[in-house]
Order: sequence, then structure tokens, then C-alpha cells
Amino acid sequence: MFFSENYIPSPLQVIQDSRLTAQNIRLFIKRDDLLHPSVSGNKFRKIKYNYLEMKRLGLKGVVTFGGAFSNHIHAVAAAGQVLGFPTVGIIRGDTPSISNATLTFAQTCGMTLHFVSRSEYRDKLALQEQFSRQYPDFYWLPEGGTNTFALEGAAEIVPEIITQLGAQPDYICLACGTGGTVSGIISASEKLEKPINIVGFSALKGDFLEKEVEKWLEMTSNPLFSQKIQKHWLIQNDYHFGGYAKWSMPLVDFINNTKSQFNLPLDPVYTGKMLFGVFDLIEKGFFPKHSTIVAVHTGGLQGIAGFNQRFGHLIYL
Ligand SMILES: Cc1ncc(COP(=O)(O)O)c(C=O)c1O
Repeated sequence: MFFSENYIPSPLQVIQDSRLTAQNIRLFIKRDDLLHPSVSGNKFRKIKYNYLEMKRLGLKGVVTFGGAFSNHIHAVAAAGQVLGFPTVGIIRGDTPSISNATLTFAQTCGMTLHFVSRSEYRDKLALQEQFSRQYPDFYWLPEGGTNTFALEGAAEIVPEIITQLGAQPDYICLACGTGGTVSGIISASEKLEKPINIVGFSALKGDFLEKEVEKWLEMTSNPLFSQKIQKHWLIQNDYHFGGYAKWSMPLVDFINNTKSQFNLPLDPVYTGKMLFGVFDLIEKGFFPKHSTIVAVHTGGLQGIAGFNQRFGHLIYL
């Protein structure tokens, strides 16, 4: 059941491929995309403790922010429907003339949508003040769902992976946007006697994410942590394919081949770029021979419909 003790861990899928055997590397995918049909991936992890906090505070619904194709908006709307609380989405951009699959789904789940201009959207505090009057006893969840409760949920992936593997992997790889999910995973890993190497793949152009992650880690960890001399994590900034939500045909081909070869669906904004990067780094010898790598599937498959709607049916479902 949802967020309960009877929660069934998402499976670990083994990948068998000549690129791996050549280097004696074991690669597993932590299939968090299978956690729930619509509240999946890192959204399941991020929403869990926020939902419990909302209940603890006695608040009756959730207000949050996102773009018109946002995985976060999709997941919060679905969580509201499944768990029975009202949801409100403040959406960047004027009302789209043709509603896309993400927003149609959100509305079908009962989410109330408010569209605001891009400039208004930038000022979250002003928006919160404006909409708090309309939704006085609602819980405010930041854009992308990243806060300390989200990190707490993401941290739970680490012991789950160790139990399923029966040992610690050498590496955990995952896609990053705000850096919340990777920060939760790093903080859990750093508590281990021998921390796991964590590699975050930024879906955005630029090299600002490392600083963001450091900020989250400082906010959530004990003071000794930041004094540790050896750092066991890094952010790869070379696999954004031109920037957030940008793409190219080699990426699309990689996603389609991964689906047909391993029956592993990937999205074009986060997980496709991450796994492309993992294979590229394997071929470049970044991971030592005999390494065990777990790549986390953080979900986002709902975005394929919107991508295909905009660019033609390029990604096979
Ligand atoms: C599918 C998917 N993977 C990864 C991420 C990145 O997560 P974070 O923002 O916590 O870095 C996101 C964005 O939230 C996402 O939607």
C-alpha cells in the first residue's frame, strides 16, 4: 500500500550487455518508476514525508508549482486523488490553448490549475502570499517538491538497494534537476561506514548544481559531515544534451534501443540522459573494472506523451 509498512520495494533490474562484460561491470536499474502507476520515481519518495507532514499539521490539501509538462505536477495531482486530498497547481505560462497530456491528467485527478505569466511565476513569495488567501489551510510544496522532507524520502533508497543487492554497490547514479533527490541519497550514503560513490547527472546546462547539493547537505547533515575530507559524490554536467528538455536524435535512438533491448522505458528529460551518460562513462573507463553500479530510475515516463505530441511520435511507448 501507499506509504505504508506493507510497502513493496521497487525491483532491481539486472542489465546484461557486452559493453558491461567487456569491463566486468555489473549494472542494475533500481526501478522506482514501477513504485506506482502515476506517483512514481523520485516523486513517490519526495511526496511521502511531505504528505505525512501535511497530515501532522492538520492541513487539508497541497498547493504547488510547476511547468506545463511537469512530472511533479502530475505526481502531486495523482497523489491527491489516490490519498484523498485536494490539490492546486500554479502553472508557469498562460493557459495553453491545447491542453497537454500532463495538465489534462492533473485536471482529471481533480487538481485545480491556476496559470500565471512567466514573470509572475518567478516571484514565488508573492504568489504564495496571493494564493494563501484563497487556500488558507493548504500545505505549500516547493517547485519540484524539493525540501528537507523530500530528502528524507529519497534517503530511503540507499538501505533498500543494499538489502536487495545483499551488499553495497560501488556506485549509485541518478538524474538531477534541483538536486534534492541526489542530496537525500548522498546524506544516507555518508552515514555508512564506507560511503558509496554517488554520481548525479544534471539535466540542466551549467555547473551550479554542485553548490545546490552542498547547500542541501549542509542544511540536513550533522556538522561533522561537512568536515569530512574525502568527498564521495560528484555531479556530471556533460549529459544535458543542450539544456533542460533539449534533445537530439542520438538520445532518442538510445531511449528506443534501451526499450527494445532491455524492456527498460526511459524518459527524454531525465532518465534517458542519465543512462546515456552511464554507458558513455563505462565505455570511457570512468568506472573501475569489476564495479557494481546501481542506476536509479527516477520515473518521469509520463513526459513521453507530451514529448511525442510536440515533436512527432519519436519515442516508442
Ligand atoms: C523523472 C525525474 N528524475 C529526476 C529528477 C530530478 O530530481 P531532483 O529535482 O530532486 O534533482 C526529476 C525532477 O524532479 C524528475 O522528474
